Amino acid sequence: MAPAGEPGHRPSPPRDFGPEVRIDPTAFVAPTALVYGRVEVAEHASLWPGCVIRAECQEVRVGRYTNLQDQVVVHVGYDAPAHIGEFCSITHRAVVHGARVEDDCLIGIGAILMDGAVIGAGSIVAPGAVVTEGTKIPPGSIVVGIPARVIRQRDARRENRLNAWKYVWNARGYREGRHRNWVGADYERFLREVEARLDSDAGGGPAEA
Ligand SMILES: CC(C)(COP(=O)(O)OP(=O)(O)OC[C@H]1O[C@@H](n2cnc3c(N)ncnc32)[C@H](O)[C@@H]1OP(=O)(O)O)[C@@H](O)C(=O)NCCC(=O)NCCS
Repeated sequence: MAPAGEPGHRPSPPRDFGPEVRIDPTAFVAPTALVYGRVEVAEHASLWPGCVIRAECQEVRVGRYTNLQDQVVVHVGYDAPAHIGEFCSITHRAVVHGARVEDDCLIGIGAILMDGAVIGAGSIVAPGAVVTEGTKIPPGSIVVGIPARVIRQRDARRENRLNAWKYVWNARGYREGRHRNWVGADYERFLREVEARLDSDAGGGPAEA
């Protein structure tokens, strides 16, 4: 697949979401994703089918290499912006409402983060968990349940970053009309390269990604 900036690379067609929506041209935006208000989406982020972001007040920021999967909702609180860091996976049907997610986190399927919650870097929020208003989760936490509680400390930065890279790769395929991106020799090679870089702590991805 052609990397960004090279022949054969097809960026997502630009969408006019309004004057305060800033989506980096390297980001992937599925045709059914919707974005309104004051929103920034950084380089190589991806917005998957049915994802909705709204910021009628405050603002939403989505960091580099972060994926918002199918039917994710990101909304602001009246007094709380929603900020998501880099290399995060906000997985299917999760809701981030006026909360902050630091770098290298995975928010599990259907989890809900309420206003003022902060998820520390390198954490995992389990599927279905509800992180209540203003809860501060320390970095490297495993968080489960309703209301969510930290069940152990484990730095999940490496696995979460690897997951984010899989979505960067997937987004590149989708942009080019390919939907079977997690099979085959090219993918295996990409994964090995990412893993080698993660092991050497060099940021975790091929330079051209
Ligand atoms: C939460 C998670 C990180 C825990 O994994 P782990 O560290 O290996 O820990 P375990 O599987 O031993 O689970 C630890 C405890 O949490 C509980 N638990 C796991 N998932 C839970 C959930 N979604 N809700 C409530 N409790 C949960 C387990 O039952 C176990 O309880 P116990 O100690 O009383 O037996 C893992 O189960 C998980 O959900 N990872 C994210 C998967 C995901 O959403 N991927 C995205 C796909 S797109």
